[in-house]
Amino acid sequence: MDEDPRPTVAELHRATAEVLGDLDAARWMCEVAFAHRPLSEIGREPVTERMVAHLDSMVARHRAGEPLQYVLGEWSFRRLDLAIDPRVLIPRPETEWVAGRALELAADLPGPRTLVDLGTGSGAIGLSLADELPIDGTTVWMTDRDPRALEVARANLAGIGRAARNVRLAEGSWFEALPPEVRAHVIVSNPPYVAEGDPALEASVIEWEPEGALLAGADGLDDLRVIVNGAPERLHPGGWLVCEIGAAQGAAVTDLARAAGFVEVSVEPDAAGHDRMLVARV
Ligand SMILES: C[S@@+](CC[C@H](N)C(=O)[O-])C[C@H]1O[C@@H](n2cnc3c(N)ncnc32)[C@H](O)[C@@H]1O
Repeated sequence: MDEDPRPTVAELHRATAEVLGDLDAARWMCEVAFAHRPLSEIGREPVTERMVAHLDSMVARHRAGEPLQYVLGEWSFRRLDLAIDPRVLIPRPETEWVAGRALELAADLPGPRTLVDLGTGSGAIGLSLADELPIDGTTVWMTDRDPRALEVARANLAGIGRAARNVRLAEGSWFEALPPEVRAHVIVSNPPYVAEGDPALEASVIEWEPEGALLAGADGLDDLRVIVNGAPERLHPGGWLVCEIGAAQGAAVTDLARAAGFVEVSVEPDAAGHDRMLVARV
């Protein structure tokens, strides 16, 4: 019997890795193109024209500068595989840690708990809360001002299975999105906190990621001011606010939180020792 003349997926992976100079990126693209099956399983299979065309278009987009996460159309965040496209910010590793802190605080509270993720984007934080906390007695509100971001969050909601029934989506600016009677035990947010004109902002972030997800006025604190000032009246007594912040904003958000009436206020450093998270209790 004649051998199949088509290259195998493993061969195509090697060729793609050479073009991209990145073994992992090539593997993820191959897996997406080949029906999301792991390379370890499909390496010996012959490629098909449709799959090669899909892979070629991903390689071309990435080589033209589009971030890998948008090219793949998905990215992992804690336990979730989230659909990701330019309507939403690409979820970052530091935000996994912020979500983890909110999870710890929420897990310590007796149910029923009400949790709020303000500015949910892809749904990364709020869906992780719903996914990782016990299904009974948890309600998670996920808000965003941008209806296009909420479309992505809604699509990702289906991916968490039964826990999706605990999640409510709401459109609007910060607390205005929530029904007036909602009071939370934990409010968590990764709001825009980059100062306009910040030279540290990478060109590909400016070009590809939604501007409304990043910039927050001259000092980067416009949105954090609204959230920190508005949170006390939306929290139950003893409730927590957890916010991702910029590395230089620790002192400013500490002052904001104290002035807003929070009694326990701390700024927690990331693994590199940079202030990246406000944790405050009313
Ligand atoms: C830094 S992104 C975070 C997205 C997601 N939570 C994450 O961590 O990957 C900020 C999000 O806040 C939303 N946003 C910006 N201004 C807002 C406002 N005034 N009210 C509600 N959401 C807002 C943006 O649309 C964006 O989705």
